[in-house]
Amino acid sequence: MLIKKPADIPPSEITPETIYRERRHFIQGAAALAALAALPTQAALPAYKKGLYGTTEPANSLKEITSYNNFYEFGTDKSDPAANAYTLRTRPWTVSIEGACRRPKTWDIDALTQAFPLEERIYRLRCVEGWSMVIPWLGFPLASLLQQVEPTANAKYVEFVTLQDPKQMPGQRRPILDWPYLEGLRLDEAMHPLTLMAVGLYGQELPKQNGAPIRLVVPWKYGFKSAKSIVKIRLVERQPVSSWMRAAPREYGFYSNVNPEVDHPRWSQAKERRIGEFLKRPTLMFNGYGEQVAHLYAGLDLRKYY
Ligand code: MTE
Repeated sequence: MLIKKPADIPPSEITPETIYRERRHFIQGAAALAALAALPTQAALPAYKKGLYGTTEPANSLKEITSYNNFYEFGTDKSDPAANAYTLRTRPWTVSIEGACRRPKTWDIDALTQAFPLEERIYRLRCVEGWSMVIPWLGFPLASLLQQVEPTANAKYVEFVTLQDPKQMPGQRRPILDWPYLEGLRLDEAMHPLTLMAVGLYGQELPKQNGAPIRLVVPWKYGFKSAKSIVKIRLVERQPVSSWMRAAPREYGFYSNVNPEVDHPRWSQAKERRIGEFLKRPTLMFNGYGEQVAHLYAGLDLRKYY
């Protein structure tokens, strides 16, 4: 094979980086569409618009996003959720919003998906284990949902309760975590415009292994804050105790903001490996969303409140 030295290549044959990136996007998009065609259970969602807070980084492929998951209800290996989550029944499904609010409401999932305009948000997801992905979510801001129930002055935090049903979720037959999987946010974090309730990705309904039919996505926090398969959202006065805080309080705090300067007690958080890449890249403060969220933590000692 004849390999041209760079000096032999006329400028007209060199692809400008912008076009290369567009092509890469296109190729990835085409691969994603082909993969979607192979998933007959995926239903289309209502029309959506591109969101304001996307990253311009290329998204991971649908295959990467749906085959490398943490969803302990279906096993603890990365490949377990894709293999086992078919037992999850996502219809009928309701989500109740309750607690310290004037108008508590129980939503049917399909009515909920129709009621709030969907947006595509391309967010980085940084797992506490040291890997990351870029995922094109479809969803709506959690703030829209919370405003509708009219939180009272007693609502200081939001607790997320996920499905508990060992018949559908084989991992719940073992005491890996204190089931159901619970997470929590401060009310202002929950109301932040970046905080998303995701019902889809790559233009289709959420695959079961990614937390169907509805999950939280908080892009500036470690991935485990983004609870999957939510059935209840509770407005509460006291700081909730999440499943990971209960399991290992020294390792997982309530805040769990992505922070390259605060190590996990057993490993560094300074770098991450993007799935599909070989070399590690530096982890960014607040996962790169500092401009939008740093003010929420002004004056807070982030070493103490990890
Ligand atoms: N939600 C539930 N119900 N159960 C889980 O085990 N794992 C968390 C989070 N949400 C988890 C969960 C962790 S550790 C991560 S990194 C993300 O989901 C992974 O989301 P993804 O598989 O869609 O990338």
